[in-house]
Amino acid sequence: MITWIGRVLVLLVLIPRSYGWGREGHYATCKIAEGYLSEDAVAGVTKLLPLHAEGELAAVCSWADEIRIHHRWSGALHFADTPDFLCNYSYCRDCHDSAQLKDRCVTGGIYNYTKQLKLGPDSGITYNLTEALMFLAHFIGDVHQPLHAGFLGDLGGNGVTLQWYSQKTNLHRVWDDMIIESALKTYYNGNLMTMIRSIQENMLNDDFDDISSWDSCDATVCPDTYVLILLKSVDCRIMACYDNVYSLTSFLLFFYASMEVRYASESINLACKFAYRNATPGSTLGDDYFVSRLPIVEKRLAQGGVRLAAVLNRIFNSSLPIATE
Ligand SMILES: *[C@@H]1O[C@H](CO)[C@@H](O)[C@H](O)[C@H]1NC(C)=O
Ligand SMILES: *[C@@H]1O[C@H](CO)[C@@H](O)[C@H](O)[C@H]1NC(C)=O
Ligand SMILES: *[C@@H]1O[C@H](CO)[C@@H](O)[C@H](O)[C@H]1NC(C)=O
Ligand SMILES: *[C@@H]1O[C@H](CO)[C@@H](O)[C@H](O)[C@H]1NC(C)=O
Ligand SMILES: [Zn+2]
Repeated sequence: MITWIGRVLVLLVLIPRSYGWGREGHYATCKIAEGYLSEDAVAGVTKLLPLHAEGELAAVCSWADEIRIHHRWSGALHFADTPDFLCNYSYCRDCHDSAQLKDRCVTGGIYNYTKQLKLGPDSGITYNLTEALMFLAHFIGDVHQPLHAGFLGDLGGNGVTLQWYSQKTNLHRVWDDMIIESALKTYYNGNLMTMIRSIQENMLNDDFDDISSWDSCDATVCPDTYVLILLKSVDCRIMACYDNVYSLTSFLLFFYASMEVRYASESINLACKFAYRNATPGSTLGDDYFVSRLPIVEKRLAQGGVRLAAVLNRIFNSSLPIATE
């Protein structure tokens, strides 16, 4: 027991935690999202963006990483790890920070900032909606990085030291940065916009076979205004965590399977199938790993973009009634 705790402490102290797709990944996700925004969403987003973004959502998609040093409370909101070797995600089991505080994880963050943007001033508290937008755009990117729902024991791959070609690094960084950087160098002349355009072309050509289902949205995965009003009085998510979920009706189950939880489930699944596989501590990853994993990375960037746009299109929909009580 003591050695186990000792080992975890050593891990926690020595490993600088990395917080999600690097700048390129977040830029790509948001750039792809920009192409799918409705007119209403463009108007809503433009109104909230800070001046220096000059109307470009992608310009602020790494803001949440830049401020995390000053806003330490936000660190836990970038990821949601699962118990070691379990390849499924459960909101109640997994959404907490290292002090076990409930809802402090990436799916909790997405929910939080979606709700703030959707309810606006009606939420009762005046939140800074510019920040809510920048957090949301960043976290929807993060939840699609498979190792943002990795194992707790190795901090989502941060604790798996290995080599990326001749460079010493860790598995988490491979997925945040290295695969994207190697792709830029190998296929795209070092030009991120070229890589983004190539992903967009693949999307248009339907090279990702299930693209039409990515942003599928029904009552079970997209709580609408009506449901959000209900959530204001009774936080069913919290209830679902503390009561015996299985005895409650399917009415509660839909909070349980909301969209961001589905994205985290996909991520841990991909982490098990692709990220951790053949990437043991001390190993050297090269061409085989790079070539087989790059399509996964590109698909997750594309999915993050389509879904971010879908969420923003739903939030800023002028034909929906405004939430009132
Ligand atoms: C996750 O998988 C484990 C082991 O296969 C299983 O016992 C558990 O019930 C699953 N949990 C969820 C939330 O699906
Ligand atoms: C929700 O947003 C507020 C304002 O940024 C923040 O103080 C709070 O910690 C957030 N909670 C979660 C779970 O994201
Ligand atoms: C909202 O947040 C942004 C980014 O942190 C900041 O620049 C701006 O001053 C804030 N607005 C208000 C009204 O506090
Ligand atoms: C906006 O809301 C209307 C009415 O519910 C709906 O028909 C339309 O599809 C929505 N648009 C988007 C982009 O969600
Ligand atoms: Zn992040």
